[in-house]
Amino acid sequence: MTDPSRPTKNRRPRPPAPARDLIDRAAMIRVDHAGEHGAVRIYEGQLAVFSALPHKARIASSLRRMRADEQAHLDAFDALVRADEAAPTLIMPLWTVMGRSLGAATALMGEKAAHACTAAVETVIDQHYQEQIDRLPTEDASLRPMIEKFQAEEVAHKNEAIAEGAAAAPFYPLLSGVIKAGCRLAIGISKRI
Ligand SMILES: [Fe+2]
Ligand SMILES: [Fe+2]
Repeated sequence: MTDPSRPTKNRRPRPPAPARDLIDRAAMIRVDHAGEHGAVRIYEGQLAVFSALPHKARIASSLRRMRADEQAHLDAFDALVRADEAAPTLIMPLWTVMGRSLGAATALMGEKAAHACTAAVETVIDQHYQEQIDRLPTEDASLRPMIEKFQAEEVAHKNEAIAEGAAAAPFYPLLSGVIKAGCRLAIGISKRI
């Protein structure tokens, strides 16, 4: 006999293991799709500022190169979303606004702040991709190698930003901490909705 004092509404049966793997995989694709979309928007925001300034041609050219990497990452996850492997996150428009604003705001603070933004974002993405790699089965021949390749490119972006003096940005610890927290929050939300 069931105990009427215990709530039954929120008790969902746990799906069997293969179904759980598919749900997990779909969540990974959804959040990565959103994150790469956000990354492209950040670089767009930064380029909107630096492209207008002739003396910022050097950083603009680096940012264009990194944006091309992010676009390739986005295209790859976009293809998986189109193949119905995952539904895009409902907060995609928020990623667009947040990404562009973050990019433009850090660029307006100067080159070092723009690099600090890249270093902070890529630090979080590097950890995020590592967590996914650790969860994916070693025999996974599609998602795992793709994420490993993208992770290596994100780490290259991070190292380049650090070499360009990210840590010399004004209020670096605060700026970096706020951006990292924002990225982690956006990742957490996109996994769920
Ligand atoms: Fe990326
Ligand atoms: Fe990147």
